[in-house]
Amino acid sequence: MSHLYSPEIIRQAKQLLSKMTLDEKLGQLSQVSSAGAHIPDDLADAIRHGRVSSVINEVDLATNNELQRLAVRETRLGIPLLIGRDVIHGFKTIFPIPLGQAATWSPEIVEKGARIAGEESATVGVNWTFAPMIDIARDPRWGRIAESLGEDPFLCAALCASMVKGFQTDDLSSPGAIASCVKHFAGYGASESGRDYNTTNIPENELRNVYLPPFHQAAKAGVASFMASFSDLNGVPATGNRWLLKQVLRDEWNYQGLVVSDWESIKELQVHGLSASEKESAYLAAKAGVDMEMASHCYINNMADLIAENQLNQAETDQMVLNVLHLKFALGLFENAFTDSSVLPQLMNAQNLQVAKEAAQKSCVLLQNKRRHGDTPVLPINRGSTKRIAVIGPMAHDGYEQLGTWVFDGEEKHSVTCLSGLKALAGQEIAIEFESVLCTSRDSNTQHFDKALELTNNADIAILYLGEESILSGEAHCRSNIDLPGAQLELIEHLSQSNTPIVLVVLAGRPLTLQPILDKVDSILYAWHPGTMGGLAIAELLFGDVSPSGKLPVSFPRVVGQIPIYYAQKNSGRPPTEESFIFIDNVPVRAAQTSLGMAATHLDTHFSPLYPFGFGLSYANFEYHHVNISPHEIKLDSAFSVTLMLENKSDVDAEEIVQLYIRDLVGSVTRPVKELKGFKRISVKAKSSVNVMFEMHTDDLAFYDICNQLNVEIGHFLLGVGADSSVELSVPFTLVN
Ligand code: NOJ
Repeated sequence: MSHLYSPEIIRQAKQLLSKMTLDEKLGQLSQVSSAGAHIPDDLADAIRHGRVSSVINEVDLATNNELQRLAVRETRLGIPLLIGRDVIHGFKTIFPIPLGQAATWSPEIVEKGARIAGEESATVGVNWTFAPMIDIARDPRWGRIAESLGEDPFLCAALCASMVKGFQTDDLSSPGAIASCVKHFAGYGASESGRDYNTTNIPENELRNVYLPPFHQAAKAGVASFMASFSDLNGVPATGNRWLLKQVLRDEWNYQGLVVSDWESIKELQVHGLSASEKESAYLAAKAGVDMEMASHCYINNMADLIAENQLNQAETDQMVLNVLHLKFALGLFENAFTDSSVLPQLMNAQNLQVAKEAAQKSCVLLQNKRRHGDTPVLPINRGSTKRIAVIGPMAHDGYEQLGTWVFDGEEKHSVTCLSGLKALAGQEIAIEFESVLCTSRDSNTQHFDKALELTNNADIAILYLGEESILSGEAHCRSNIDLPGAQLELIEHLSQSNTPIVLVVLAGRPLTLQPILDKVDSILYAWHPGTMGGLAIAELLFGDVSPSGKLPVSFPRVVGQIPIYYAQKNSGRPPTEESFIFIDNVPVRAAQTSLGMAATHLDTHFSPLYPFGFGLSYANFEYHHVNISPHEIKLDSAFSVTLMLENKSDVDAEEIVQLYIRDLVGSVTRPVKELKGFKRISVKAKSSVNVMFEMHTDDLAFYDICNQLNVEIGHFLLGVGADSSVELSVPFTLVN
């Protein structure tokens, strides 16, 4: 990797370091929590004495400027502060949750969203966000899947690079640019049983092939910081994991940015049982390579003693301090630490809201579109024949719950709810009647069910807005059962008695198990938690102003017992087939052991997911033709191309996400049955075709081999390009020396 910082920044930081006392140096390793708009004396004093490097969670402009004034004007060396905040999917203008953004498969819209989030947060003095979260997430029970970019390393890496670029721009010192932090390094998404903070055990080869690539990509993309995970990785919590933070991150990847702990994760090394005291925790984290401590005080209280006792040496701590100072110089804080919001675009301006709407629109995934009693799909809503719409459900008119997890600064009052969006678009001709029926998604009171049935019976279409409240996903909000909570399943069941077509719009922070309701509703639109403009975005999709184009960034299980289920699985020695699959009801009583199919299946559910990774319907009808690779025999270290024709046979203009998958048939370690290696969002006019080309390189086929070295192995491959990960890989090609 090239140097993250210019020689000038490196020189300035070194020069400053040479003037610093040990206390001043140790102060640069400490991030403390804000106490609110009023700055308490002890915080002001700590800043004046150079004991604070960064403040987290202050979003009042005047307070942040005052904090900077204390740091810059009232300390000996005038070192400015990093002001950190979790700006995860928007600041005031809230975008879809990251998992929803991943469903856009649009690096462009993701970058724009991060740019706006960065700019808006910069207006109050924030200069550092703790995003994106790029933990590969393959367990929808895990609440933090909402913050993730899904199950696939390739998609996650591509979108991560766009987010980092959006936050940081090409110049961290430009107005509105803020430092990004990728987290949680590494493996947090594999928390056992989807329970947050839980142990992870990930073999090194899987770690390198699945969990680390997005982080490596972020390092290459110039991300300013990494956050060490809370979690235990193969017996050594990431915050104290020298192999991970030193060998992989610093030595192999030559990463030169800042590494911050997670909230009190240094102190928690003792709780994990890796250390016996706060002092030992400080020692282990510093030795591992954590530069700055978030929230707890192990460093500031113990580091001087550790140095005096020669357990840590000055050179090591100097490097930690330099890693902090480099970022402060790069952000231009030494030239100007104060924020003048008037030079930045206005919060929630029309353009920002438009991007938020577009992001929400592109994130919605149409999972089902049929008609239980008839042939024509229910969506888009036919304006001509629709006079009355019943709007039902606790998520229909709740501006708070549509915002999703990790929203500290966005406000409910700015949300366009689903009901308001629908009303805005319905016009005078269509009457809309609304009953929330349940107070929240968890409500189990069935008292208003009959009223809802009556409303449904009297309408031409019923739209049910159901799902999960924001607080049911996100950090520490994991579920062992991922059905629609409360009485929502019963509500669907009850309303399905009606002949009126039912559209289900799901607002949720994770994939939910939808199997029980598939035949009880006509159409299903999965909207995640879509953010401020979600209601309008969804309404435009329902009315067909725009065709749905989102695709799943994560596989949807049929039942919770299938988890983990992801498309890039290994083949196993006994891969399941339709022939080998026997459903439990068909297993004869006292059948001989060998009659049971002998394949990697469950007896009581099909082996495929309910919806595969990459899946999403459109109002258009796309066909893929002439998928070809050139050349078919490819020499190592050379370029090749994949071409196809995408035809839109329908009479609506639409966008399609074209996905390229390969399979490496034989490897020194077994390879997944499919791997995403390319994708493009392509716009195709009605009744026309577009030629699509992927320019590839044999390096794109590299993986960590049996020796855990990144390597491209010659041999036979299969390739397929299609609409989702269930595409057949029918094009063979060979890689030769
Ligand atoms: C804990 C979370 O794990 C992390 O993602 C977040 O950035 C910090 N708290 C700061 O709020």
